[in-house]
Amino acid sequence: MKRVVAIDGPSGAGKSTVARGVADVLGSSVLDTGAMYRSATLAVLHRGVDPEDAEACADVARAADIDLRDGIRLDGRDVTTEIRGPAVTAAVSTVSAHPGVRAVLVARQREWADAHGGGVIEGRDIGTVVFPDAAVKVFLTASDAERARRRQRDEVAAAREVDVERVREDLDRRDRLDSTRKTSPLQAAVDAWVVDTTELAIPEVVAEIVERYRAATGAQT
Ligand code: DC
Repeated sequence: MKRVVAIDGPSGAGKSTVARGVADVLGSSVLDTGAMYRSATLAVLHRGVDPEDAEACADVARAADIDLRDGIRLDGRDVTTEIRGPAVTAAVSTVSAHPGVRAVLVARQREWADAHGGGVIEGRDIGTVVFPDAAVKVFLTASDAERARRRQRDEVAAAREVDVERVREDLDRRDRLDSTRKTSPLQAAVDAWVVDTTELAIPEVVAEIVERYRAATGAQT
């Protein structure tokens, strides 16, 4: 068993907030794998590579230096804001569907967990593919309306233009692509705790995950 808390789910389901809350209590680190796929996508766009070109995208991902330790740096440049922008958001589901891209990033995610002695990892396929032996697997969901509302709030906070209909369409499109791709589609692991965060308060979800982690690992922290 890996000392990993795997947090999967669609965009706007509350993964990042829950992941940070759990990591704070356990004193562990968080890995945002969505930021890795977004950084690889930004590298693809920067190099003028076609997001549909599977081989070329995998080559770019392999060569990209993605550093998530302090903000998000791509090849030494801070891209924390740019990877959340519309160009990356529009292309990320296409780039992340390529098996070659996933192989590169999954290997790095496993290296990260080994280097950190485990941790809290959020994404789409963490409990199903990256760490099927995670101590705790959680799959977060929320109603479409609530997820769109949260995404819109993120956009406002980032001072980007928002149109709630566009945010909704974009979520629908990405969910459809992420859930129907051949390699590692977005889905709950059979042994995941599936939680709807539309109504449930985040602190309750965090507390339940911490309890499950302690029960699974015997950890006292
Ligand atoms: O979590 P996010 O919205 O920042 O993720 C951006 C995209 O990255 C998402 O639409 C699909 C992809 N992704 C993935 O394929 N696998 C992961 N483990 C994490 C994200």
